[in-house]
Amino acid sequence: MGSRLASAHLHSPYRRVYMAELIVLRLVHVLGGIFWVGAGLFNLLFLAPAMAVAGPAAGPMMQVMRQRKMFVVMPTVAILTILSGLRLMMITSGNFNAAYFGTDAGAAFAFGGACAIVAFIVGLALAMPAQKRMGMLGPQIASAPDDATRTRLQAEVARLQGRMRVVGPAVTTLLVLAAVAMAVARYV
Ligand code: HEM
Repeated sequence: MGSRLASAHLHSPYRRVYMAELIVLRLVHVLGGIFWVGAGLFNLLFLAPAMAVAGPAAGPMMQVMRQRKMFVVMPTVAILTILSGLRLMMITSGNFNAAYFGTDAGAAFAFGGACAIVAFIVGLALAMPAQKRMGMLGPQIASAPDDATRTRLQAEVARLQGRMRVVGPAVTTLLVLAAVAMAVARYV
């Protein structure tokens, strides 16, 4: 089908623009998706456990990550992955034609896309504020004026860590589900 299209419109400038858009979208989409899911897995399996053990010593690490704009870069990458995915979906489904979503491949791409969008919303609403707050609490605990303040701040860290123990795996599971659906959609 692709080669028939290629030979039929070999000299059409429209086809070149169409293919160029698809290539750019797919590059942004696949590279963004790799970065997003990879970062989620790395965080869940290695970084978060290491930082939990490090305790207050994790504070400076969080500060460097913040300085390096982690809380700007990660949401931007996620948004680019979602927007390029929606545009790809718009093109390949013929403007979100219902018939596309009735096919197994269309349903799989839609399921994967929905998982990623839910992961993004949950991450933005619950995980990111907790991570930011924990990054700020580290230095505050270190310079707490008295024991009562320190205990209160430590209790808040424990509460946020408890939240992350649920939210972290949930978000990463959704992202892995999205990646699995995207990887196999064409072949189901
Ligand atoms: C964790 C996030 C995501 C990852 C890792 C990811 C990964 C991928 C990969 C590797 C492909 C290429 C599959 C192939 O061509 O067979 C793909 C295609 C696609 N993705 Fe995603 N994706 C993600 C999120 C989304 C979202 C949020 C949407 C839209 C709502 C979406 C819609 C699509 C569509 C429609 C295609 C097919 C494009 C085409 O036919 O050229 N994806 N995705």
